[in-house]
Amino acid sequence: MSQIHVSEHPLVKHKLTKLRDTQTEPKKFRELIREIAMLLAYEATADLKLSPTSVATPMGRAGGHYLQEKIGLVPILRAGLGMVDGIWEMTPSAEVWHIGLYRDERTLQPVQYYNKLPVIPTVQVCLVLDPMLATGGSAVATVGILKQWGANRIKFVGILAAPEGLQALTSAHPDVPIHLAAVDERLNEIGYIVPGLGDAGDRQFGTA
Ligand code: PRP
Ligand code: URA
Repeated sequence: MSQIHVSEHPLVKHKLTKLRDTQTEPKKFRELIREIAMLLAYEATADLKLSPTSVATPMGRAGGHYLQEKIGLVPILRAGLGMVDGIWEMTPSAEVWHIGLYRDERTLQPVQYYNKLPVIPTVQVCLVLDPMLATGGSAVATVGILKQWGANRIKFVGILAAPEGLQALTSAHPDVPIHLAAVDERLNEIGYIVPGLGDAGDRQFGTA
């Protein structure tokens, strides 16, 4: 059964409001994407598996833990790129595997243009990163690619979702937990999230 987690964190709500604002310029927009991604990843990684260890402190030995699982960060190009760096700072041993997909403007179907995953999976848990879950086509396809690769623990970390995208992802991949900052009202007739924030790729890269 899918688990949908919508963050209740006040910092996420505050930053999301600034992110949506048309007055927010690309530099600030990228900063906000990075910060929100870190806050959502903090919540999404709360159940990572640990192994016990101990370390020498200046005063003696202390029991501790280390992460048992290798993390894969999987941004969906382009807009997912802005979510990588902040999360990567917190998880420096993570591997980053890019998946290139764009939405055909007419059909709204995802078109794959980049995938360099190695033959054998090298990570135990994958965080799929994309700020926007609109029709859900891109996320459904990416999770499908990762499952075919052999990844068995996959989570989706997004920022905004439309109910239609949530429905599509939970139906296609009910085992994949979804972490979001908010769920909006609907999709419009050209597949944009309303009220949303516009085009997340264009707003990050100044290409609107
Ligand atoms: C956007 C967004 C998602 C996709 C969401 O990417 O970043 O990847 O649309 O839409 P969906 O849920 O209907 O598939 P876009 O295709 O605009 O490409 P870009 O990130 O390169 O701008
Ligand atoms: N992609 C975006 O960047 N924004 C939307 O609202 C929908 C898809």
